Amino acid sequence: MDAPREKWHSRIGFIVAAAGSAVGLGNIWKFPYITGENGGAAFLLLYLAIVFTIGLSVLLAEVAIGRAGQTDALSAFKALGHKGWTVVGAIGLTIAFLILSFYSVIAGWTIAYVIKSADGAFSGLDIGAVGDSFVGFISDPWQPLIYQAVFVVLTVFVVLKGVASGIERVSKILMPVLFLILLALVARSLTLPGAEEGLRFFLSPDFSKIDGTVFMAALGQAFFSLSIGMAAMLTYGSYLDRGTRIGRSAWYIVSLDTMVAVLAGLAILPAVFAFGLDPEAGPALTFITLPTVFQAMPGGAIFGPAFFVLLLIAALTSSVSLLEPLVAVFCDRGFGRVPTTIGIGVVTFLLGVPSSLSQGIWADYKLFGMGFLDLLDFLTANIMLPISGLMVAIFVGWVMGPRAANEVTMDGEHPGILLTLWIFILRFVAPIAILAILINGLM
Ligand code: PHE
Repeated sequence: MDAPREKWHSRIGFIVAAAGSAVGLGNIWKFPYITGENGGAAFLLLYLAIVFTIGLSVLLAEVAIGRAGQTDALSAFKALGHKGWTVVGAIGLTIAFLILSFYSVIAGWTIAYVIKSADGAFSGLDIGAVGDSFVGFISDPWQPLIYQAVFVVLTVFVVLKGVASGIERVSKILMPVLFLILLALVARSLTLPGAEEGLRFFLSPDFSKIDGTVFMAALGQAFFSLSIGMAAMLTYGSYLDRGTRIGRSAWYIVSLDTMVAVLAGLAILPAVFAFGLDPEAGPALTFITLPTVFQAMPGGAIFGPAFFVLLLIAALTSSVSLLEPLVAVFCDRGFGRVPTTIGIGVVTFLLGVPSSLSQGIWADYKLFGMGFLDLLDFLTANIMLPISGLMVAIFVGWVMGPRAANEVTMDGEHPGILLTLWIFILRFVAPIAILAILINGLM
C-alpha cells in the first residue's frame, strides 16, 4: 500500500508557503523599476486592478485544479476526468524546470552579494567600479557556478524534508524574517535626506504613460509575480484538505505578494533618488545601483547585507515551489522523495550551467540574438507562461465549469456574486487579455 499523500499542517501554513512562492526576485527588483519606468502610481493602479481581477482568478483556478485533483500536476487532469488536458500540466512542469535552472543562477549571485556586502567589498567604490566588480564576478567561469550549486543544495535540502516539515516549516520561519527586514529597509530609505523625490517618482501618477505596452507589462509582471502557470500553485493546492476555504486563501496570497512588491518599491526608489542614481537601471539596479547606495548610506554596512539576505530568502521560498511540482510527479508514482529531490536538483543544476556561462565565456553563443539565460527567460516569461495561464483559465472556466464552482463553495459559503464574477473572468476577461499579451509578445 502506498503511504498517504502529504498534507499541509494548517491553512496558514499553506498561505505562507504559497505567498513564499509568489514573493520572489520578481517583487523585489523587477517591480520597483517597472513601476518607475511605466508611469509610477498610474502603473501601480493598473497593476492592482489586474492582480485583483485576472491574477486572483487564475491563481484560484490553479489552486482549485490541484485541490480537486489531489494529485500532482501531470495526473490532476486525468483525475478530474479530462486526460487530454494533461498537456497543461506538462507545460507548467516544463516551465518550472526551465525557470528553476536560471533562477538558481541569479539566486546564487545573491548569496555572493550577501558575503561581498558584509565583507565591505564595495566600500568607497563609485557606481562604475561597483559595475566592473559585478561584471567581473558574473563573467568568471567558476565562482557563480559554486554559488549556484550552494543555492541548489539549499533548495534541495528544504524540499527533501517534505511538504509540511520542509517547505511549510521553512516558509513559516523565513517569511516573517523577510517582512521584518523589508520594513527596516523601508524605514531607513524613507528617512534619508532627499527621499521625497523617489517617493514622488513611485507614487505620483502619470497617466500619459499608460498605453497598450504598459498594459502588457503589467499583465506579464502579474503572472510571473503570482507564480501562475508553472504548476506551483496547482501542486501546493493539491496538499490542501477538502474544506479549506481556497477563495479566501487565494485572496491573502495575492494581497501579501502585492504588499511586498509595494514595500520593495518604498524601500528601493527613495534610497536610489537620495543618492542621485538612475532608478531605471533595470536588472543592474539590484547588483550595481543598490550596492553603491548602501556603501554610501549611514548604516549601509548593516542594511546592505540585510537587503541581500532578503533577496535570498525571497528566492529560496520561490525556488522550492518550482522544485516541488517536479518532485511531486515522481513521489506520486512511488519514487522516494529523497533520491528524487537530489536527482532533479542535480539535473537543474546542470541545465543552469549554460545560463551561468552565458554571462561570461559563452557570451558569444547567441540564438535569436540572445544569450542562453536571456533566451530561457524570454521563452518562459513571454511565451510559455501566457499559454499556460490561458489554458488554465479556459480549463477551469469552460471545461470544469460547475465542478470548479463547487470546489470553491464546498466549505458551505454561498455561491454569490463573487463566484459569478470569477467564472466570468476565467471565461472571457482572462483569455482575451492573455491572448493580447501573447500576440504582443510575439510581435
Ligand atoms: N513569483 C516569483 C517571483 O516573483 C517567481 C516564481 C515563479 C516563483 C514561479 C515560483 C514559481 O520572483
